Amino acid sequence: MALYSDKVMDHFMNPRNVGIIENADGIGEAGNAKCGDIMKMYLKIDDDVITDVKFETFGCASAIASSSMATELIKGQRVEDAMKLTNKAVAEALDGLPEYKMHCSVLAEEAIEAALKDYQSKKNS
Ligand code: FES
Repeated sequence: MALYSDKVMDHFMNPRNVGIIENADGIGEAGNAKCGDIMKMYLKIDDDVITDVKFETFGCASAIASSSMATELIKGQRVEDAMKLTNKAVAEALDGLPEYKMHCSVLAEEAIEAALKDYQSKKNS
């Protein structure tokens, strides 16, 4: 069996939503101390709905595919729903990741959570 699913390969070779958003409403970053990979998420939010999302990932194929899929999953979602995104859901949407690569999807969950929290703290200040 191939190490990576077709979906992982697709999102790695043609990642969706790569880039940055100027004047983003929320920015979040997550890193993994062991492998040194870093992911940054930028959110544009109108009326508590995520209208745009972009990412920059300096990391492995699974991290890039996870970021790409995660951005697709939360685009158009309400903030409260996006908060519930788990790394498992990201991995499932990619038709699975090898067990030892699951931590790469955790970066996506954490970076999005950090960006949403950044948005909430700005909103409440
Ligand atoms: Fe570091 Fe994948 S090996 S995030």
